[in-house]
Amino acid sequence: MQTPSPATVPAPPGFTDESWAAFARDGILVIEDALSPAVVADLNDAVVRHGEDNPLHIVADDERFTELIDHPAHIGFVYDVYGEMLKLLRSEYFRREPGTIVRNSWHFDGPRPLPFSVFTGALPLRIKAAYWLTPLPTAGMGNLVFIRGSHRWDFLPEYQTHEPHPQEERLIVRPGALTLMWSGLWHRVDVNDSDTTRQNIFLEYGPSWVVTSDRQLAEPAWAAELSRERRILMRAYEEANECIKPPARDVPLYAPRDAGSAGSHPHYPDHVPLHLRKFSTPVEQRKWV
Ligand SMILES: [Fe+2]
Repeated sequence: MQTPSPATVPAPPGFTDESWAAFARDGILVIEDALSPAVVADLNDAVVRHGEDNPLHIVADDERFTELIDHPAHIGFVYDVYGEMLKLLRSEYFRREPGTIVRNSWHFDGPRPLPFSVFTGALPLRIKAAYWLTPLPTAGMGNLVFIRGSHRWDFLPEYQTHEPHPQEERLIVRPGALTLMWSGLWHRVDVNDSDTTRQNIFLEYGPSWVVTSDRQLAEPAWAAELSRERRILMRAYEEANECIKPPARDVPLYAPRDAGSAGSHPHYPDHVPLHLRKFSTPVEQRKWV
């Protein structure tokens, strides 16, 4: 017998053919004005009130951060890639004050001795969504510095230095911009010679079988109070194997967006319980890989 679907909320929109092609080519996608000025003001206030420069697992610290777990401006994109096993792997914000000396040199996010890219040429095993909360109209403001297309590069001679790279670009965006970064993209942080503190939020997503990097386990009692979608995205499973085999009540995560989309036609007939079937992610369905 098929387990009845408790999912009632369809996933918000994600990639188009064009935006996926750009993301797969560049390893970064920039979406201006993803957040309203009011939300940006709220998040800037939440960062200032929190007070630390780079805390982890912030979604549990302030309701305004909790709202970001499944924010409709970005969650549809990562759902397109990770589908029914989508998990929030890490949340943090950064405050980069004027004149800060310590800043990240050339690196890519994720494991180094055995990078994700060894296993995954076609798709990223993590995607980092970032919201930029303060104006970045010029270089020298603690901007993200990145090399377009470098998510396909295993090595960078400038690794662990701030040596300029001929193809480097600085992120120039308005407050409220969203960026999506493919795990493996080479990046560093610019100096902040301005008189303003750069503030931004990072949210990393992947399949639930990739480990979290900001917590061992979210507080189950806290997670249980969240909306159904947020609770699932936190994957606060006290039984570790549930990150590999999600419980029946957590599948599907979202209702179908429309007839024929992910969730509506999982493979295998009714004798296989829904949570044990193979679903096709939107990226698979659209044959983007
Ligand atoms: Fe990084």
